Amino acid sequence: MRQLIDECAPLIFRAVSDIGITEEQILSLLGPATDTRLADVAMPCHSLAAIFQKPPVDVSEEISGLISTFLEGIALTSSMNGFVNLKADPAWLSARAMKLLPDERLGVSKEKPRKVVVDYSAPNVAKEMHVGHLRSTVIGDSIVRMLEFKGHDVIRENHIGDWGTPFGMLIEHLIDIGEDDFALDKGISDFDQFYKEARSKFDNDEFFANRSRSRVVLLQSEDDDTLRLWRVLVNVSTSYFNEVYDMLGVLLDDRDLMGESAYRHLLPQVVERLEKSGLLEESDGASVVFLGGKWVNRKGEPFPVMIRKGDGGFNYSTSDLACIIDRVERLSCDDLLYVVGTPQKQHFEMVFEVASRAGLMQNWHNAKHVNFGSVLDSNGQMLKSRTGQSVKLVDLLKEAIYRADESISEKNPGLTENDRERVSKMIGIGAVKYADLSTDRSKDYTFDWDKMLSFEGNTAPYLQYSHARICRIFSLSPLSRADVKNANIIIQTEEEENLARCIVNFSEAVDNASSTFHPHKLCTHIHSTSSAFASFYEACPILKSDDHTILKSRLALCDLTARTISTGLGLLGIQSPEEM
Ligand code: ARG
Repeated sequence: MRQLIDECAPLIFRAVSDIGITEEQILSLLGPATDTRLADVAMPCHSLAAIFQKPPVDVSEEISGLISTFLEGIALTSSMNGFVNLKADPAWLSARAMKLLPDERLGVSKEKPRKVVVDYSAPNVAKEMHVGHLRSTVIGDSIVRMLEFKGHDVIRENHIGDWGTPFGMLIEHLIDIGEDDFALDKGISDFDQFYKEARSKFDNDEFFANRSRSRVVLLQSEDDDTLRLWRVLVNVSTSYFNEVYDMLGVLLDDRDLMGESAYRHLLPQVVERLEKSGLLEESDGASVVFLGGKWVNRKGEPFPVMIRKGDGGFNYSTSDLACIIDRVERLSCDDLLYVVGTPQKQHFEMVFEVASRAGLMQNWHNAKHVNFGSVLDSNGQMLKSRTGQSVKLVDLLKEAIYRADESISEKNPGLTENDRERVSKMIGIGAVKYADLSTDRSKDYTFDWDKMLSFEGNTAPYLQYSHARICRIFSLSPLSRADVKNANIIIQTEEEENLARCIVNFSEAVDNASSTFHPHKLCTHIHSTSSAFASFYEACPILKSDDHTILKSRLALCDLTARTISTGLGLLGIQSPEEM
């Protein structure tokens, strides 16, 4: 509980000033309590035993005694096993919660703005978007929203795979099947099939392979007709990506496209600059960088970063180095975030290392691989469709909406057709996103329809339902949400206290999630808030309370809870329906 620590530290310092410990020392000792039922903040006194020349148990007792009057109205103090325990005083909680009533940001501060490029989604042209791209899209979108909310200048970049040698065979295959037949509305619904056909012709048909190779040369020399055909592939693919983005309700659109092709003019510069810095070496006709040290292959031999292949073609790494030049020198960014699956860990480590050694970025640039695990099915296998193909994202999202619609129709048959359709989208899409976001991104996560769409547990429908329930309370209440902005929040019960604590801690949860790029930390907090609300709702009559001040106070807690949920879900890119 950061706010409690910040407020208590100087007072504790004043209370114990003659003992000879500094305020910094006190601050460094204060931390979240392990047993949250007992305390919010704990201060272990074991390291002070030497200064006091007493056992820690006596030290904690002595300090607790010294500080208790200083912390009156803020925290209740006690000591146990060498720890001083601080528990937020209900009066302090209510004062803090009241401050949030007129505050649209619910206490979340803005930081000194940094320029942050977030590289996310990044599917490949003429290939199916897979669940890994879904994860990147959903996690990246939430990170963008959190960073913007914290006041940063965020640049979204969709680094689609739209350049390189495979485009020779893809363009030739496009010519073979006919441009007119390659369009979304003409039924090109399976990019993987298209890609596989091209690949198979390339592997089995010498003539086709030669055509493809010459096509790559034409593409690289920017031949007009070849570029036009390439654009057909790119446009059909990106309109498919946009269909997915629209369904998901993420911020990405065509203006954020910044694919590999955007860096093609910088590729020769990468070679030049690596050469100048003395990093480039020739190896079997290719130009490579050997980083030495820990970068060895399984046999213990040095493992190079490939910059230019023997045939003159450039590599994925070269393109990422060019991209760093662009982000650092054209965009002048401070932070470079890459929301990409864990399997590319080594790629990014090596690219960042080459970029630093070559001076393409400085040590004050913060380049970070925001990695994530795989999506698994209930058998712990990589998620595949029934036919064993990779799952088509549009179908997956349609199924989510369909399933949400089924359960909504059952739960609330009174909704009009229009409302049901709107709400099903919010719930279905919200469920898919939340299931992904609420698991620690560095771990694999198991895709489970029943679990993600359940109205109980740490799920989007549960949180959305709590929000809708509060909206319903207000629709029946004599006081509106505007009426309770000046309420006096009175905390009488443990349930009110716990709910107020969650509301007050919201800003800290947002900061933790945004500074570590871990949206699940925010999910955990919103879920705790909803659970605290459920207990409060059960224990404390709201509309039935006959005391007007209590009614107003409880409605104020309702308002704060609803805003904590909707603001929190909003930062995750999830909508909060007012009825469902
Ligand atoms: N297109 C790549 C893939 O599908 C991801 C690109 C990620 N971004 C980057 N700058 N390398 O694996």
